[in-house]
Amino acid sequence: MSAFSELMDQNRVSRRRQRKIANTVMLSFTGLVTALALVPLFWIIGYVIIRGGKNINLDFFIHLPRPLGMAGGGVLSAIEGTLVVTLLAALFAIPPGVLAAFYAALEPRAPNVRKPLTTEEWAQRCDRCHGINGNSTDPRLPGLASQRRDYVEKVLHAYRSGERRNTTMAAMAADLSEAEVDNLAAHYARQKARPVVFASPPGK
Ligand code: HEC
Repeated sequence: MSAFSELMDQNRVSRRRQRKIANTVMLSFTGLVTALALVPLFWIIGYVIIRGGKNINLDFFIHLPRPLGMAGGGVLSAIEGTLVVTLLAALFAIPPGVLAAFYAALEPRAPNVRKPLTTEEWAQRCDRCHGINGNSTDPRLPGLASQRRDYVEKVLHAYRSGERRNTTMAAMAADLSEAEVDNLAAHYARQKARPVVFASPPGK
C-alpha cells in the first residue's frame, strides 16, 4: 500500500471516530435537554390533575370556553390552536430535518485527489500504446525510446495546449503535472531504442 492511500485510510478512520464522538455528545445533550423540558411539563400536568381532575370529562374536550364567571365550557379552541401550530411547525421543521438527516447519513467520500503515480507507473501506461520502454511495435504509434528529452517535453505541452492535435494524447497529457512531464521525458530519453520491424498483416 502506498503512503498516499495509507494517509487516505487514516484520514477516513479518524473522521469516522470524530463523527462518532460528535454524535454521542449531541445525542446525550438532546436527551438531557429533553428531560429538563419534561420536568415543568409533568409538574404542570400533575398540578392540573390534582387540583381540577374531577372536572375533566368529555364535555371539557368538546366545548368552547365560556366567558369568565360562567360555569362549564371546555378547551376545544386550545386543542384546535395546538393542532394548527404543530402542523405549521412541522411544515417548517420536517423538510430541513429530513435533508439534514439524509446528508448526515452519507459516508464522507474521499476528496477527489488524483493518486500520484510514480514515473514507472506512468511509463507503464504510456508503454501500453508506445511499446515496452517506449519501443513501439505498431507503425501507427510513435516510439518514445531515446527521443530527445526537450522534444518530448515540448510535444507533451503541445498536446495539452492543443497546439498539436490528438485526442488520445491530449487526454494523457492533460493529466500530467509539470514534474511528471519532466520525469517522463527524462525516462524515455534514457531508454534504448531497439530495432523493430513493422510487419503489416497481409490484406491491410
Ligand atoms: C491510448 C494510447 C496512448 C497512450 C496510453 C499514450 N500515448 Fe502517446 N501517442 C499516442 C498516439 C496515437 C500518438 C501519435 C499522435 C499524433 O499523431 O500526434 C502519440 C504520440 C506521443 C508523442 C509524440 C511522439 C513524436 O514522435 O512526436 C509523445 C511524446 C507521447 N505520445 C508521449 C506519451 C506519454 C509520455 C504517455 C504516457 C503518459 C503516452 N504518450 C501515452 C497514443 C498513446
